[in-house]
Amino acid sequence: MTDFQPGQAPQSCAFVIFGVTGDLTRRLIVPALYNLAAEELLPDKFCVVGVARHGISKDALCEALLKGVREFATRRVEDKIVNRLFECVTPVEADSGDARSFDRLKEQLEGLEVARNTGGNRLFYLATPPDAFAPIARELGRVGLLKEDGGAWRRLVVEKPFGNDLASARALNLELLSILNEHQIYRIDHYLGKETVQNILVLRFANGMFEPIWNRHHIDHVQITVEETLGIGHRGSFYDAVGALRDMVPNHLFQLLSLVAMEPPARFEAHSVRSEKGEVLAAIQTQSEEEALRNSVRGQYTVGKIGDTVIPAYRETEDVRPDSTTETYVALKLQIDNWRWAGVPFYLRTGKALSIKRTEVAIKFREAPLMMFERAPVEQLAENYLVIGIEPTEGVMLQFNTKVPGPTIRTSGVQMKFRYKDYFKAEPATGYETLIYDCLIGDNMLFQRADSIEAGWQAVQPILDAWKKAGASGLEFYPAGSEGPPGAFELLKRDGRSWRKL
Ligand code: BG6
Repeated sequence: MTDFQPGQAPQSCAFVIFGVTGDLTRRLIVPALYNLAAEELLPDKFCVVGVARHGISKDALCEALLKGVREFATRRVEDKIVNRLFECVTPVEADSGDARSFDRLKEQLEGLEVARNTGGNRLFYLATPPDAFAPIARELGRVGLLKEDGGAWRRLVVEKPFGNDLASARALNLELLSILNEHQIYRIDHYLGKETVQNILVLRFANGMFEPIWNRHHIDHVQITVEETLGIGHRGSFYDAVGALRDMVPNHLFQLLSLVAMEPPARFEAHSVRSEKGEVLAAIQTQSEEEALRNSVRGQYTVGKIGDTVIPAYRETEDVRPDSTTETYVALKLQIDNWRWAGVPFYLRTGKALSIKRTEVAIKFREAPLMMFERAPVEQLAENYLVIGIEPTEGVMLQFNTKVPGPTIRTSGVQMKFRYKDYFKAEPATGYETLIYDCLIGDNMLFQRADSIEAGWQAVQPILDAWKKAGASGLEFYPAGSEGPPGAFELLKRDGRSWRKL
């Protein structure tokens, strides 16, 4: 995690994008590069090599990328900056199924590095479908482009999804680690590019007042919510094979969970922070199949309305099987087996086509003993919550009880709110700027290490297995535009708890 200081440009390098004609490059990577260029946070000696499986001319590529910049760069697009950035873009054709194309890529890249004087530092960004990650890395390794020598660094950025279960994630780690060292691999989770997610660390550890009460003695439970209004749209063929659990939980929701639940790192640097995050994920209780079924809820949306828009049923979406049992909603109860959290449930929920878009972490504190107010007309105290809002409202909210003015003691719940936008004026960003910048300067604090990835999959694997066996049985349905399946509410109700009203 880095503080942007004007003028703090990374070392010269080549930035090689695999999947340069894809959506991710157009919507996020190149617009983020533009934003970094506007802040003067790209190296002086720099080149962008766009790798596509089929040949594309420089003009056609730049035109497509410029369209993306105009649409997604989040700030005014200036010709001067565009020209400087695009002047250094070179398209190259390579396909991991064709070994000779990688020999040619090596030659072309080395030629460009000399011409551009980039000093041999290279960042390879795999913005491709996941089945291409290992084959590309293998080819890059074979032609020697990943070997760190002569003082130059070589880094590989791997996008999500990293595996689709524990076995495939392990296999991918094993393969990548046979080609590169861990410090060269940057496994991206875009949630870590969000300011408010990074702020969880600062909120917990740069303030003296939270840490003493951040444990099972004071916290009753934790709720992590990532709700979206969007349905699946045109992503049917990807999503139907993946589902809400794989798509969101071992990565995004577990990033939030690990930042909330980790022990304080000895130092605010990559190794310590990543080790503590890995530890806490590894401490998530392993569930038997029966427990996994009891502690999980899966739902799929049916036709419904969000605002005035009719959302067709998931099963009627393009490229989705008409009898699909893929979940578009998941709610889970997890326990963390360590000294700090023993007995404190973590409830997670995430879903598509819901009534509102909201990402938040809510810490629910234990209740004050009510008997003190026995003689007063106080029947119920408001719940004490600390809520970290991530989207759309970025901020922190504390809910507590206060006295209602008047001669008798009556209480009412009130909220104290901090909103980022009231205090800081930040340029709107794509969310990828910090991540790309950190890759360029070699700070991997905000990237996932192999152990965290595997610990995440390990925790969800029993649920995946149990659902697979159960087939359609247990799948609930909820109308698009609703709050999700009833089972999600039952999950907390049976513990005498309820979700915070969003
Ligand atoms: C992606 C998932 O990783 O994250 C999408 O594949 C999801 O399904 C998205 O919509 C959510 O990201 P954000 O930043 O909008 O919360």
